[in-house]
Amino acid sequence: MMTTRWLRSVFPAVLILAAALTLAGCGGGGGGEEGSGGGGGGGEQITVASDIAFPPFEFTKNGRTVGFDIDLMREIGKRAGFTPEFKNVTFDGIIPGLGNNLYDASISAMTITEEREQSVDFSDPYFNADQSLLVQSESPIKSVDDIGDGTVGVQLGTTGELKAKELKKEGKIKGEIRTFDTTTDAFSALENGQIQAVINDFPVSAYRAKTGGESLEVVQTIPTGEQYGVSFPEDSDLVDPVNKALEEIKKDGTYAKLYEKWFGQKPEEIP
Ligand code: ARG
Repeated sequence: MMTTRWLRSVFPAVLILAAALTLAGCGGGGGGEEGSGGGGGGGEQITVASDIAFPPFEFTKNGRTVGFDIDLMREIGKRAGFTPEFKNVTFDGIIPGLGNNLYDASISAMTITEEREQSVDFSDPYFNADQSLLVQSESPIKSVDDIGDGTVGVQLGTTGELKAKELKKEGKIKGEIRTFDTTTDAFSALENGQIQAVINDFPVSAYRAKTGGESLEVVQTIPTGEQYGVSFPEDSDLVDPVNKALEEIKKDGTYAKLYEKWFGQKPEEIP
């Protein structure tokens, strides 16, 4: 008798405690994610694929996943009620992976293209970018017209690869186009003199030129008017909440703050 009464009196408290523990459990660090500092968005954990070798958008620093995209996705998660768990994958595998529902989303400085839209959904655009030509600082190559039969490096499956192929078709590039799994591999090959130029997203090549000890230089911007979007498996429920969060982030000054943190200046335009 005593026991039942006692149980009844503490039962509500036990319920509350159990609920609190469940909530805390959801927000807690899951298996793969690095110590996330700054905390997640609570709610459910979602798997976000990224090719984490594309500074300053996504890269590893002191063993931690960092970058503009990483901060942006965590901020989106805070507002949309999820915690992103980043999964490092090759860029070329992201679209097929989303198609097979291996990931809930991807943020990887990925350009929204009509072709990709055939198989995945994109958020509203969050970044404007063009292509660019990166060469060794001492190189005689000053524009695509000077490449001649030099070898051009690109990352496999990127819009940089598409642009290089287009230039080859037009006869502007006569030499080989060599594909690399990561952009950082292409940069290394350029530094080592194995290739003569890299065609890649301007903000990333410019960042490399700035932070890489002046050995490499962006000599030409190739205007393509690209826009990056977060991508999802088709018909994902995440598209709407992500767009809503993104809109707030652009409006309330958070976007400008993140941009300044990673690019050292205020954004000229917010897409
Ligand atoms: N914006 C380019 C594209 O969509 C390159 C993106 C590469 N991203 C990366 N994380 N490596 O094709």
